[in-house]
Amino acid sequence: MDELKELEGAIDLASNELNQMDDDLNLLQQKKANYLGKKGIIANVMSNMKNLSNDERKELGMKSNKIKVLLEELFEKKRKEIEDNIVERKLKSETIDVTLPGVSMPVGGIHPLNQTVMELEDLYIGMGYRVAEGPEIETDEFCFEKLNLPKGHPARDMQDTFYINPELLLRSQTSPVQVRTMLEEKGKPIKIICPGKVYRRDSDDATHSHQFMQCEGLVLGKDITLADLKGALLEMVRKMFDKDRQIRLRPSFFPFTEPSVEVDVSCGICGGKGCPTCKNTGWIEILGAGMVNDNVLRMSGYDPKEIQGFAFGIGVERITMLKYKIDDIRNFYTNDVRFLNQFKEEK
Ligand code: DAH
Repeated sequence: MDELKELEGAIDLASNELNQMDDDLNLLQQKKANYLGKKGIIANVMSNMKNLSNDERKELGMKSNKIKVLLEELFEKKRKEIEDNIVERKLKSETIDVTLPGVSMPVGGIHPLNQTVMELEDLYIGMGYRVAEGPEIETDEFCFEKLNLPKGHPARDMQDTFYINPELLLRSQTSPVQVRTMLEEKGKPIKIICPGKVYRRDSDDATHSHQFMQCEGLVLGKDITLADLKGALLEMVRKMFDKDRQIRLRPSFFPFTEPSVEVDVSCGICGGKGCPTCKNTGWIEILGAGMVNDNVLRMSGYDPKEIQGFAFGIGVERITMLKYKIDDIRNFYTNDVRFLNQFKEEK
């Protein structure tokens, strides 16, 4: 009987094929179909059985069932083997060598202006101040009117301003945060600094930027005097620069303070003797300040007879440029990493 021979040969044929096969589950599936599928060898033998005698059919039936089981076992064993091999290979290729040196990620640093702001915050918080903030889009009322700069006041010209509409503008100074804080505190003492961005319609050059940073200060309480202002600024200058620095106050004008002063710091390059940086004067201007104008106090609900105090406005770029001897304000805003990397803290 040819069919019987074909069946008996199938086992050897299959194991030969499987032995030579790559670890490929799809291929295995195809090969299995060649033997056990609808058109495979077993099915083929069965379909020819109708031409055989009863005895032959019985024998062939039993035989083919046995062979079928053996083939199934053979293919199952191979499937397991392939799967195990695949897993093993994957484990091998994905092992991590924990002894390899790490790859360090490039990290950024804190912008020099933000470093200055953080230093200012630190030292003023140390003196009992708190940090207040206000919006960069401000009302004309808070940015000017309540600071004693009514509409049409000539001192408004000092600050060329970006208006959004007649009542809204990009704040030209951080002083409106004073107004906001006074309105919130309703006559109570205040001790704040307010760092933040301000905007002016200026052409950018080495010393001007249409957007820069200020740090406002406001202290209101009983019996606060200009001497307290001087102390608060001298302390700042000595911590920001060095402990031998001096400051001097020169009379000036700001609509929101009376009297108003401009504050100079002794030149750190020549020690006060005179050099090109201080234009041979020994002094460098760093900020404006003064005693808060009675009108400003009244407009925000404070009684000048009960409470008074001082305010100041530090130019953050200015003191950062002095501290690190930077000669062009545009360096802060052009994002050249060669410049910025110099201010990265060493780890
Ligand atoms: N706001 C002023 C400016 O931008 C700076 C200033 C001066 C702020 C005197 C003050 C101050 O609080 O009292 O030029």
